[in-house]
Amino acid sequence: HCILNWAGDGYLSAAPAGNTRIVYGCLDVRDAACRIADAKRYVAHPCYTPAPANIDHDDIALIELRAPVEGMDGQFALVNGLNGSVPLEDGDPVTLSGFGTTSPSGAGGASPVLLEVSVPKRSKAFCMQQSPSAVSNGWIDFDHVICTGGEAGKDSCNGDSGGPALVLHEGTPWLVGVASIGSELPLSTGDCAASGRLGVYTEVRA
Ligand code: ARG
Repeated sequence: HCILNWAGDGYLSAAPAGNTRIVYGCLDVRDAACRIADAKRYVAHPCYTPAPANIDHDDIALIELRAPVEGMDGQFALVNGLNGSVPLEDGDPVTLSGFGTTSPSGAGGASPVLLEVSVPKRSKAFCMQQSPSAVSNGWIDFDHVICTGGEAGKDSCNGDSGGPALVLHEGTPWLVGVASIGSELPLSTGDCAASGRLGVYTEVRA
């Protein structure tokens, strides 16, 4: 939904030239170690259809870079379904990270520092229970999302979209999902990090 979006919904599409800077190689965007990559191509999932509420199935996109990333000696996360597969059961810990807001209302600026939190994977049944309109309208494909969290104070939030949900398996990080949306319930407690509010991540495996 960051790439292909609904005009006037509050998101600025990442795709037009000049709208996006891809920063990598640092944990603080103010750090001189940060490098910048140029995008060659943005590819939204062909089945993603932006809805006014930005709640939708297949909320995932690829960005092809103009040149390979440089100076990254560390280990990259493996991708679930692409580099093999990683087991993931309800209750297992999942690490969320991003530069999104830390305000539970969902308002406020991004964090200049990459933040992370470990939360449990939640069941499909609980996720559906917390997202009644998405269920009745068919907005989310609950067979292809990973729902996380639901503990007060521990969640992703606005600005974290597109960011990773990682599983650590035998010391290796695996990318299992990318941030899409939060659950609808509970009502009237802001967008994020309330008890029962789940993070909904698009599953990266088919
Ligand atoms: N849609 C949000 C974004 O664009 C992500 C919201 C995640 N919300 C949550 N409660 N985990 O950044």
